[in-house]
Formats: sequence, structure tokens, C-alpha cells
Amino acid sequence: MTDSHAADSPSAPRLWGAEARAVAGVRLKTLSADLPADLTTRVLTPDDADRLHVFRLSVVSSLADPDHYRMAGEVGNFVADHLGDKGLTAGIFRGDRLVAYGAIGLPGPGDANRGRDLGLPEEELALVAHMSSAMVEAPDRGRGLHHRLIAWRLEVARALGRPHLLTTVSPRNHVSWGHLAQHGLYPRRWLQVDKDLVRFLVHRDVRVEPVLDTTTARLVPLERLSGQTDLFAQGGRVWARLSGGDVPGGAAGAERRWYALCGRERIGPDR
Ligand SMILES: CC(C)(COP(=O)(O)OP(=O)(O)OC[C@H]1O[C@@H](n2cnc3c(N)ncnc32)[C@H](O)[C@@H]1OP(=O)(O)O)[C@@H](O)C(=O)NCCC(=O)NCCS
Repeated sequence: MTDSHAADSPSAPRLWGAEARAVAGVRLKTLSADLPADLTTRVLTPDDADRLHVFRLSVVSSLADPDHYRMAGEVGNFVADHLGDKGLTAGIFRGDRLVAYGAIGLPGPGDANRGRDLGLPEEELALVAHMSSAMVEAPDRGRGLHHRLIAWRLEVARALGRPHLLTTVSPRNHVSWGHLAQHGLYPRRWLQVDKDLVRFLVHRDVRVEPVLDTTTARLVPLERLSGQTDLFAQGGRVWARLSGGDVPGGAAGAERRWYALCGRERIGPDR
């Protein structure tokens, strides 16, 4: 199934700054629908820069595994870029307190563009949006906020005529890439993003719906993912994160086995 329209054409004019923010604001209804009653949403503005900066430092400093999010892997000035012309950020608030955000990057000509890392043709780079980052404060996790923030960014990218969604994520951060995969953003490549940082390059083109070739499907225990150098050979992708149940002997729900569902994309007319 394809889903494209004139705005997806590389030659169509792109929206930036205040106009893009207005489009993103209209899409807040996706983020707000059935939101827990104690929370509200809005698109952040440059006046939120300090608040966003402090929030990010606080979440990163309390990560269970520091590899899950490394600011060293970011490009440019994250906060300024995602509150100005180069990107948009939605905030979820309890009263005045920011409890979650999701940021989308809108690279322009000459900006760093993850489409190059995937090998997209030069004319497709104008159609790229970056799923740059999302963070939720620990007490509000498990309420569906991340899933909402992913859905909001997908809608905004679509509305802005950017069907290619790309980002990088730690293979150890399986909650994050597992959620992205649930929204059709699958790991497609290994990518070295800093001296010693190896990440999944995750991608979705909303105009196409790839299908797993089930004859190539295999489950890889998460702890063995990083050694799998051939994971992405011949159109390989990671399609999903699957739970294999609780670890024997562990307290119920305390520790689970997780697997990555890997395999190649089905090619051909009968796909
Ligand atoms: C990774 C992170 C963003 C996840 O945020 P979260 O808000 O807890 O995620 P969600 O609540 O959307 O999903 C968590 C679970 O709650 C479930 N859930 C509970 N209520 C839900 C609802 N109303 N709607 C949808 N899902 C719901 C989801 O199904 C999900 O289960 P799954 O993991 O098996 O899919 C958060 O842990 C975090 O900020 N981590 C630190 C920073 C980070 O790693 N960021 C990601 C890299 S950019």
C-alpha cells in the first residue's frame, strides 16, 4: 500500500519556523486525545529553552544505563535547533511542570541529514524528518506518553511533506527502539555516531509498508544483538521487540527475557 501526495514531492516548498509550528499545533489533538486528565500538551517555544535543557539533563543523569541516551551522539545545538527553525518539540505538562517531550528535526539544505547515512538519493533528502529524541520523567512512564509522542511526530512529518523518518538509538535501549518499531520505524543499519558509540539507524518511509519475509525470520536474544554484524545484510531489519517471559527464578515481572525479531524484507510481486 502506498500513501503519498503532492506535498511529498521533493520540489514542493517546505514549511519552517512559525508556519511549521502552527501545523504541529493543529496536530496536538493526536497527543491530547484520551490523555490522562492531570496532563496537558503544547508546542514548546524558544522561551522554553532553559526548561527543556534542565529537563533533559535531569532525565539523562538518572538513566538506569548511561548508554541508553548519550548527548555526545547529538548533532548541533539540540535545544535551540528543536525550538527554532530547524525543528519542533511538543511538551507534556502537569500544571507548569514539564514531564515529557518529543522533538522532531527538520533538516534543511546543508544541514546534517541521517538520510545520507541510509544512502537515500540526494533529491530525497528534502523529504527527511528526524525523530530526534523523546524523554519521559520516571514517575510518568508506562502511561503511553512515549507512544503518543511518536504518533504526534509521525503526523507532523506527514503534514509537513516529510515521509522519511530517521533516527539513531542505542541497541541496548530496547524500550525505545521497540516502541519505534511498533510504529513502523525499524532498525536498518549499524551506525558509528561518535568515537565509541554504535547505534541502530532506524527508518520509516510512510509511503511504503515493508513486510517481513518469514522464511528468514529469527529471534535474537537482546544481549547478543551487538555482535550481529550481518543483521542488516541483504535488506535485513529488526521488526519487533518480543518478550520471552520472566527469567526463571526471578521475581514475577522483575526481569524479563527480550528478543529482537530479525529478518529480511519480502521482495517481489506476491509480497
Ligand atoms: C523510553 C521512554 C521514552 C519510554 O517512555 P514511556 O512514556 O514510559 O513509554 P510508554 O508509556 O508509551 O510505553 C511503555 C509501556 O506502557 C504501555 N502503556 C501503558 N499505558 C498505555 C497507554 N495508555 N497507551 C499506550 N501504551 C500504554 C505501553 O504499551 C508500553 O508497553 P511496551 O513497552 O510493552 O510497548 C522513557 O522510558 C524514557 O524517557 N527513558 C529515558 C530517555 C530515553 O531513553 N529516551 C528514548 C531515546 S530518545
